[in-house]
Amino acid sequence: MSQREPAGHQEVSERIRELTALIHHHDFRYYVLDDPEISDAAYDALFRELQSLEKQYPDLRLSDSPTLRVGGKALSQFKKIKHRVPMLSLANALTGPEFLEFDQRVHRFLDRPETDTLEYYTELKFDGLSLNLTYENGKLAHAATRGDGEAGEDVTQNVRTIRSVPLKLRTKNPPQLIEIRGEVILPIEDFEKLNRQQLDSGQKAFANPRNAAAGSLRQLDPAITASRPLTLYCYGLGYASELALKTMAEYQDQLSEWGFRVGAYRRICQGADEVLKFYREIQEKRSHLPFEIDGIVVKLNRLRDIDLAGYIARSPRGMIAFKYPPRQETTTIEDIVVQVGRTGALTPVAQVTPVRIGGATVRRATLHNQDEIDRKDIRIGDRVIIQRAGDVIPEVVKVITDVRTGKEKKFNLPKFCPVCGSAVERKPDEAAVRCVSRNCVAQLKERIRHLASLDALNIEGLGDRIVEQLVDAGLVKNYADLFTLKYDQILELEGFAEKSTQKLLEAIERAKTPDLYRLIYGLGIRHVGEKTAKSLAKCFGSIEKLIEAQESDYELIHEIGVEISKSLVQYFSDSQNLKELRSLLRFVEPKKPKNLHGETSLKLAGKTIVLTGTLPTLSRGEATRIIEENGGKTSSSVSKKTTFVLAGEEAGSKLEKAKALGVEVLSEEEFLKLTRG
Ligand code: IVH
Repeated sequence: MSQREPAGHQEVSERIRELTALIHHHDFRYYVLDDPEISDAAYDALFRELQSLEKQYPDLRLSDSPTLRVGGKALSQFKKIKHRVPMLSLANALTGPEFLEFDQRVHRFLDRPETDTLEYYTELKFDGLSLNLTYENGKLAHAATRGDGEAGEDVTQNVRTIRSVPLKLRTKNPPQLIEIRGEVILPIEDFEKLNRQQLDSGQKAFANPRNAAAGSLRQLDPAITASRPLTLYCYGLGYASELALKTMAEYQDQLSEWGFRVGAYRRICQGADEVLKFYREIQEKRSHLPFEIDGIVVKLNRLRDIDLAGYIARSPRGMIAFKYPPRQETTTIEDIVVQVGRTGALTPVAQVTPVRIGGATVRRATLHNQDEIDRKDIRIGDRVIIQRAGDVIPEVVKVITDVRTGKEKKFNLPKFCPVCGSAVERKPDEAAVRCVSRNCVAQLKERIRHLASLDALNIEGLGDRIVEQLVDAGLVKNYADLFTLKYDQILELEGFAEKSTQKLLEAIERAKTPDLYRLIYGLGIRHVGEKTAKSLAKCFGSIEKLIEAQESDYELIHEIGVEISKSLVQYFSDSQNLKELRSLLRFVEPKKPKNLHGETSLKLAGKTIVLTGTLPTLSRGEATRIIEENGGKTSSSVSKKTTFVLAGEEAGSKLEKAKALGVEVLSEEEFLKLTRG
C-alpha cells in the first residue's frame, strides 16, 4: 500500500499525527482541566476517524496513540516492577496538638530555633491507591501499584485506560527518565453507580470508593478497568533525571505543566498556624468534594529540608498526613451475630439498618467483645452512633439511651462455639472469649482464607466462597491439603468450569514459592502483621531459623516487643502448629529475602544510630534503609544509648553532643565498611 500510494501515505501519516495531537489536547481539556472545548459528539468523530485510519494503516499508528487507551489483551497475572526510588509512607497526626508536636519535632530535626517559622506545602490527602508512573523520554513506559513500597504490580495496560493519565508529557524537552507518583481514585458518584451495577449483576458491592478503585485497577482484563471512570491526582516524583527543582510547590507546578491533574486545593503555608487554618477550611469543604479525602498532607516545602530532616521507618520526618476525625452516623441495631476468627476468638457483630457514612453504605459494625458490649451497654434494638475510619470495620461509638423503649434486648456471648459446639474459654488476662477446639471448621476456614489472602500467599481466585466449599466438602483439612487438590475435585465445586479450575490450579502452583515474609504473615500468628513478618524474614532469613529461635532472639528486633515474642514462642512450641507447618513446607519453599547487598544481615541488630549533617554520597533515606536492612534503628537525638553517630558535612549540635558523651562517630566510609564488609 505505501509503495503504491506514496503521496496518500504521506497525507494519512500527517492526518494521524494531527488527530493524535488533537485528541490528546481534548483529553487534557476534559479529563484534567474539567473544561472541554468541543462537544462529546465532535470528540467521538475525531476518535473514530483516527481508529479507522489506524485500522487501514496499522504501521502508521503512533506509540502514544489515544486509541491505545482502549483494548489490550487480558493478562493471566501481573508482572512485578521494581520502583527506582522506593515508595515511602507517611506518619499520621490525628489532632491539632499532634500536628503541633510534629511541627516542633521538625524544628529539632532541622536544628532550627522554635521561634523560626517553617514553610510548609499543604494539599489534599486523596483516599485511593498510589501509583508510580515511569515516563521514558516523555512517553508513558510503565505504571505500577505501590506494592510493598519496593516493587509493585505492573498495571500499565490498565493505567493507559485512565484518561487523565497523559500518554506523553506536554513538553518539547522531557526528562530522559522520570517517576511520577499519584493516587488513583473513583469519584463518589461513580462509586455508587458501580455498586448498583455490581448488585444488579449478582456481584459483591465494594465497601468504599477506595476499594472500588483498587478492585478496578487490579483487573487482569483492561477492558473492565476501561469501563470504570478512574482518575489520577498526582502529588510527587520518585526518580528524576536532570531535574533541578527546589520546592514541593515547584514539583506540583511542573506536574501540572506536563499535563497531570493535581489537587485544586493546595497552599504554601508559613508556619503551623497557617496549616491549621488550611486544615479547617478543607474540613468545611470535605463533604462537598466529589471524591473522598481522609485528611491533608503537610510537607516541608523545601526539598533540601525534607532530606535534612531525615527518615524514620520508611517515612520522611518532614511530612505528615494530618487526618480528619472519623465520620459518624446514627442507626439501629437489628441483631447481633457471632463470628469465629482464625484464632478462635468469638467476635460479636451488630447488624444495623443500612446507613451511608461518607461515601459508603454500612450494614455491620464490630462490637469487639463482651466487655465492650457491657461497658457501652449495647442492646439489640438500640439506636446507636456508629463511625467508620478508613479501612477499619465500622464500630459503635455509643448508645442513644434517651430513645430506648424498653423493648431492647441484652446480649451475651454464647458459652459454646456457635460453629463447632465446643465449650469456649476466656483467659484471665484477655478480653476475647475463644473456641479452643482444634477441629473447629470456622477457625480452619479463616486460617485458610488468611494463608491464601492477597498479602500472604496471594492465591488468586481462592475467595471466601471457595474456601467455604473446600472445607465443607472435606477436601481441605489443613494447609497442606490446598496443595494436593486435584483438577476433578475442583471442577466438581459449584461455580467452576474447566477454565476457572485450571486458573485456580495455576494460582496454587505459583503460591509454592512465596517471599518468606508472606509465608510468615500467612501463618496467622497472633500479633504478627505484615510489617512484623517482614522484619522477621529479614532478620532470620529462613523459616528454619525462625522456628529454632529463642524468645531473646526475637526481642533483638526493634519492632518486636514482649507481646509479639511471647506469641511467637507460643506458636512455635506448639507441636500441632509445627506439624502443620512442616507438612506445608513439603509443598511450599519460600524465597530467601534479600537486602540491598543481596543478603540478610544482623550486623546492626540492637544498635541505635543517629544521622547528622550531609553525607558525601548517601541521602538520609538511603542511609536509613541500610541501617534498617542490617537490623538497626535510627534515632533523632544523641544519648548514652546511641551506639554511634553517622556524621557528614555541616554536622551541628548532634556531633558536639556525641563528643561530649563519648559516643563513637563514624564517617560514611566507615559506616559502609561496617555494613558491607
Ligand atoms: S505524599 C512519603 N501526598 O498517602 C510518601 N501522599 O499515607 C509521600 N496520598 O502512599 C506521599 N494523597 O498513597 C502524598 N497529596 C498526597 C497524597 C498522598 C494521598 C497517599 C499516598 C501515600 C499515602 C501515605
